[in-house]
Amino acid sequence: MKYRPMGKLGISASAFGLGCMRFNGTASGDSVIDEQKAVSLIRRAIDGGVTYLDTAYVYLDKTSEIVLGKALQDGYRDRVTIATKMPLEYVHNRAEMEALLDSELKKLQTDHIDFYLMHGIDRAKWESFKAIGAPAFFDDMKKEGKIRYKCFSFHGPYEDFEYILQDYDWDMVQIQYNFMDIENQAGEKGLKLAGKLGIPVVIMEGLLGGRLSRAPSNVQALYDAFPVRRTPVEWAFRWLCNHPEVSVVLSGCNEAEQIDDNLRIFDTVESGIMSEEECRLMENVRLAYLSRTKIGCTGCRYCMPCPNGVNIPGIFSVWNNVSLYDTDPKWNWDLKRIIENGQGADHCIGCGACEAACPQHLDIVEKLQIAWKELTAE
Ligand SMILES: NC(=O)c1ccc[n+]([C@@H]2O[C@H](COP(=O)([O-])OP(=O)(O)OC[C@H]3O[C@@H](n4cnc5c(N)ncnc54)[C@H](OP(=O)(O)O)[C@@H]3O)[C@@H](O)[C@H]2O)c1
Repeated sequence: MKYRPMGKLGISASAFGLGCMRFNGTASGDSVIDEQKAVSLIRRAIDGGVTYLDTAYVYLDKTSEIVLGKALQDGYRDRVTIATKMPLEYVHNRAEMEALLDSELKKLQTDHIDFYLMHGIDRAKWESFKAIGAPAFFDDMKKEGKIRYKCFSFHGPYEDFEYILQDYDWDMVQIQYNFMDIENQAGEKGLKLAGKLGIPVVIMEGLLGGRLSRAPSNVQALYDAFPVRRTPVEWAFRWLCNHPEVSVVLSGCNEAEQIDDNLRIFDTVESGIMSEEECRLMENVRLAYLSRTKIGCTGCRYCMPCPNGVNIPGIFSVWNNVSLYDTDPKWNWDLKRIIENGQGADHCIGCGACEAACPQHLDIVEKLQIAWKELTAE
């Protein structure tokens, strides 16, 4: 296992951080987490050198922290740092923040949390956190020793990231990043800014929730043609670790084989490790994924609201995603939500109001029907 510096904190952490969001149920489709298996996976990762574990109050129906707490008995707690999170949705004042943090400490069976994050914030959520006094609360908890580092995780647009990052004395930030997201959310610009400020960056969705682990044929052809053979997972993690600003790459693993594979990969990757040819390969891989884009919708929402309630950018985003990563639309939750909310293209009456508003001049009415047919085909 390689260990990487955590920016201005003066500590280091394992390059591979175990995400505790994706443990399976006891049986297929079962929402009750298989505790015994999860505990054994967590300990397997720690025994292999992992020192960074990421969970959250809400993960796995609020059971993730409990399972992690159990896994960290028998001396394991002292070998690792824990990151967990406060969700805005559950706190409205200081008393509730205190109660929530105390409940997390109890579930995790520990007297302190190393990295405490405001969960999944954008600018609006940050303002709400400020309005209920969260910054002062985090300061006080740090002084009391209940938390060691004040952090946030982020899924908003870059402008929000730039603002939030410089609006408080943060110790760490967790962002979604991978070779497909260099211009999405915090993106490469956000990563570099955090690096410049000395704020360590922890990466989530490094494999886009697993989608980058299964290369579609045109991408696999590029990997196959490269003189050195590596799996898509290895390429994705190698690319991430090549960035000096990255401290920890989280990966949520469901199987011992995935833990072992990641332990092997994170034993070989370091910042600045990639040759020019390798960087070119990954840029070509990115372009090969993008060539699978179905429609050039940028999600600007100028076409919205549709008078008939069709979620036009949502449908196009699902259509592009399903094609890019060669996934089955049946398992696409965004599509499921669109159907459940009655926002499908089957409600389109072809009025064309959207086309008149589209700055990309897309033939929306026709493409919506094609997309819908493909996405809902049996
Ligand atoms: N703060 C937030 O808002 C937020 C949001 C998202 C995630 N997170 C955190 O970040 C962590 C990581 O995110 P993520 O779970 O989405 O990470 P990820 O690494 O993008 O995806 C995890 C998935 O990748 C696949 N995988 C992992 N290792 C593999 C290997 N060696 N070979 C093949 N497939 C492999 C598995 O997919 P299969 O299941 O298909 O096998 C696994 O479920 C989470 O666990 C969570 O702790 C936080």
